Amino acid sequence: VKLVTTHQLLAMKQRGEKISMLTAYDFSMATILDGAGIDVLLVGDSASNVMAGHETTLPITLDQMIYHASSVVRGVKRAFVVVDMPFGSYQGNSSEALRSAIRIMKESGGHGIKLEGGAEIKESITRILTAGIPVMGHLGLTPQSIYKFGTYSVRAKEEAEAQKLLEDAKLLQELGCFAVVLEKIPSSLAKQVAEQLTIPVIGIGAGPHVDGQVLVVHDMLGINKEFKPRFLRRYADLHEIMSEAVQHYVQDVKNRDFPSEQEAY
Ligand code: KIV
Ligand code: NA
Repeated sequence: VKLVTTHQLLAMKQRGEKISMLTAYDFSMATILDGAGIDVLLVGDSASNVMAGHETTLPITLDQMIYHASSVVRGVKRAFVVVDMPFGSYQGNSSEALRSAIRIMKESGGHGIKLEGGAEIKESITRILTAGIPVMGHLGLTPQSIYKFGTYSVRAKEEAEAQKLLEDAKLLQELGCFAVVLEKIPSSLAKQVAEQLTIPVIGIGAGPHVDGQVLVVHDMLGINKEFKPRFLRRYADLHEIMSEAVQHYVQDVKNRDFPSEQEAY
C-alpha cells in the first residue's frame, strides 16, 4: 500500500473524489481505521475531551499530543497523519510555533500539523511552512477559543463573520496550507469556500458540498453517548456492545464460569 500524501489529497479534490478523515488517539484504534481504508487520521486535541475527560481542549499539552501522535503513527501503514497543535503552543509567537511544530514532527513521526485560526496566526503558519511542514488550517468553530465565543453553536451565520471566514480561507491557501477544516458553519458558506479554493476543504458539521468529511471517531462509533449534535451520524453503538460484553465478563467471573478448565494451564 502506498502512503497518502498532500499531493494525492489535492488530486482527489481535482478529480472529485471525497476525502475521508477521522480522529485517532492511540495505536489500536489507528490500526483499525488505517486498515479500513481511511485517507487521513487526525490526532485531534479533542483527545483532551475524549481521552482525558476535560471539559475543553485547552488543557492538553504538547507532550501529551506527541504521546498520542506517536502511538497513532505506529499503527498506520497508509493514512496521512495530521497532528493538532495544542492551545498555547503557536498563538502569538511564531518562533515558539515553529519550535512546537518541529517537536511534533520529530518526536511523533506525524506527517503534518493543524492549527486553529486565520489572519491572527499568519506569521506562525508562514514560519512553520518554511520548515517544510505541511499545515492544515481550521476555521469556523474553533474550540481553542471557546471562551471568546462562549458557546459551541453554529458559526458564521452573520454576513460579516462569513466574509471574514471566506477571506481567512483564501489567506490560508495563499500562505501554502495543503487543506482547511471547516467546523460547524452553514452548508451554503462551506460550499462557497470549497468552490473558491483549489486546496481540499474538509467539513465537520459543514454540509455535503465540501471535499471531504471528518468526525471524532468515538462519536461516530457510538462509544461516547452524551454528545449528539445534528451533524453526527452514528455508525455503531459500541457503548452498548462494550458494556454488554463487560457485564457478561463480570457475571462469568462472579459465577466461576470464567476461566474454564480449557482456559487454564
Ligand atoms: O480535535 C478535533 O477532533 C478536531 C476535529 C473536530 C476537526 O479538530
Ligand atoms: Na482540534
